[in-house]
Amino acid sequence: MPQRPIGFFDSGEGGLTVARAVAELLPGEEILYACDSAHFPYGPRPLPEVRRFFLRFAQFFADQGCKLVVIACNTATAAVLLSGPPPELPLPVLGVVEPGARAAVAATRNGRIGVVATQATVGAGVYPRVIAGLAPGARVVQQACPVLVTLAEQGVVESPEVREEVRRCLEPLLAEGIDTLVLGCTHLPHMQKVIGEVVGPEVRLVDPGMATAREVREYLARRGLLNPAASGGRLRFYTTGDPDRFVRVARLLWPGRVHRADHLPLWSTEAPPAPSPTAGGNPGG
Ligand code: DGL
Repeated sequence: MPQRPIGFFDSGEGGLTVARAVAELLPGEEILYACDSAHFPYGPRPLPEVRRFFLRFAQFFADQGCKLVVIACNTATAAVLLSGPPPELPLPVLGVVEPGARAAVAATRNGRIGVVATQATVGAGVYPRVIAGLAPGARVVQQACPVLVTLAEQGVVESPEVREEVRRCLEPLLAEGIDTLVLGCTHLPHMQKVIGEVVGPEVRLVDPGMATAREVREYLARRGLLNPAASGGRLRFYTTGDPDRFVRVARLLWPGRVHRADHLPLWSTEAPPAPSPTAGGNPGG
């Protein structure tokens, strides 16, 4: 059981920031990353639709023998977990919003927290709700950033266009006197360098993926499910989109670790996937 993989789910390349955080913290774990590039972006979609998409993937992760799935997507976490996890989930699932909210509350000194996220995450108000439960006096201001999500998905994370859009999105939050900024979409930590330069050293950046990685370690340790290997965890990647495009971008975003990906059929129109156990192997380490 400890040798079984950890599943990661996102609409696209954003969740790589979470998988990378887990791979750095737990280098012996096998990672099975599956994303729904065919339906990217999730941000403009209604949450019940995103929840339906995720449930298909949950079955795939269960069929692949995963011991745990990390929803490496704030939008899907909002859709699946925060209105009560669906009873039909076939395996344990952790999301990124609660770890991110806890990290933000621990980081803030003046109680003013900014959240930058997709339209759906902002609209659902999940960060304000979870933060209010942890720190009732905190003030949370939010901003949607769909253009940044699309740029990150294309692997564009440091251009003048990115800088300009980061500035445009974050100015209203900075004007509110935030001292902490939650990168509430997993695509955004790919742009952490530019975001950090725009907000300056006074504002603490919270990457929920990092906080989630620590919670994954605790979750597995408590249940005796940590892989005892200290290194060499294999990485496997699947996408409902074009695997070559996924690999091209993923190589820019996570250099040296992504060499191949496999296609996952869209379950609504095609037969359920049955990848071979050896498919999609990427060297561990
Ligand atoms: N990376 C995802 C998130 O954290 C979703 C981006 C999208 O598909 O719009 O919300």
